[in-house]
Amino acid sequence: MTQQPATVNPWSDDDNSAFLRLRMKTFWNGDYFERIILPLLNLPHSGRVLDVGCGNGGISLLLSDLRPDLQILGMDFEPKPLEDARAYASRNGLANLTFEQGDAHNLRYDDAVFDGVLCQTVLTHVRDAQAAVKEMTRVLKSGGVFFAAEYTNSAMANYDSVHFEKRDEAWYREYYRINRMFMKGKMALGRGDDTVGARVPLLATQAGLDVYDVRLNDRAMHVFPPYRHEKQRNYLELAKTANTIDNDEKWLKLNIKTVVAGGGTEEDGRWFHHAIDSAGIVRAIEDGTFTATGSFQLYLTFARK
Ligand SMILES: C[S@@+](CC[C@H](N)C(=O)[O-])C[C@H]1O[C@@H](n2cnc3c(N)ncnc32)[C@H](O)[C@@H]1O
Repeated sequence: MTQQPATVNPWSDDDNSAFLRLRMKTFWNGDYFERIILPLLNLPHSGRVLDVGCGNGGISLLLSDLRPDLQILGMDFEPKPLEDARAYASRNGLANLTFEQGDAHNLRYDDAVFDGVLCQTVLTHVRDAQAAVKEMTRVLKSGGVFFAAEYTNSAMANYDSVHFEKRDEAWYREYYRINRMFMKGKMALGRGDDTVGARVPLLATQAGLDVYDVRLNDRAMHVFPPYRHEKQRNYLELAKTANTIDNDEKWLKLNIKTVVAGGGTEEDGRWFHHAIDSAGIVRAIEDGTFTATGSFQLYLTFARK
């Protein structure tokens, strides 16, 4: 039986769909994905590929564009992003894609049916990453390829360039104190583990896979005025979308609940929610002073069954 998520899934609404689609553009440079990642995956012609936790399309869309011969199946817990993914695929004539609902902990597929099983920023969100990796391994054919692109979120430092001057040591101490409670709370609520990225090679090995490479994604976001390049303007759009979060009651409640579940107070949760100072970021974007040179750092694990 499919187990329900322990709490509201924040990825399921339209705002987040738009956010995820924009963010995807900040993970990869196309040349790196095409010339480095694809050859390393070495997926067989016409192979069957499963994208676990595909959301509104994520890596399925990238792959479908570059490898129209593959039969790609995206699955996710949430119906809304899947509808969005279907609509996007049909609008863009991506005929080799199908999407369906399911649970990464309990895949509805037979053993050994896929030539490739992939996920991108999913193992940090599932209740039990080890169980999900075992399931991904089970449905993989012998010789099939496993690929996971996953965060270790504590490595993210995108906004420091806006705030670094304004924040003192006490602010950072407070931030890391509460961030730790936030991470513990996420695990306690079954909302995943933000530090999973760097541990995926071990999880894959424990599931019986042979890890043959571990890398990082290549995109750094070098955003600085006057924002002449399209990539920079994409990122600004992303930053604005992400930074409506300060005023979002749903995220405020969820952040407070998470910090409290990790041993903090409601006040800690509120402080943490507002720590990013999204209004400050939006102001800096509007007056053309925003700079950021951080990255969404993903650990890439390549393994074979
Ligand atoms: C950050 S999003 C990433 C989406 C997509 N892979 C991408 O790269 O844009 C995380 C996704 O994992 C999905 N998810 C979380 N837990 C899941 C589970 N147990 N089974 C399937 N999908 C799950 C969420 O619904 C969400 O779409």
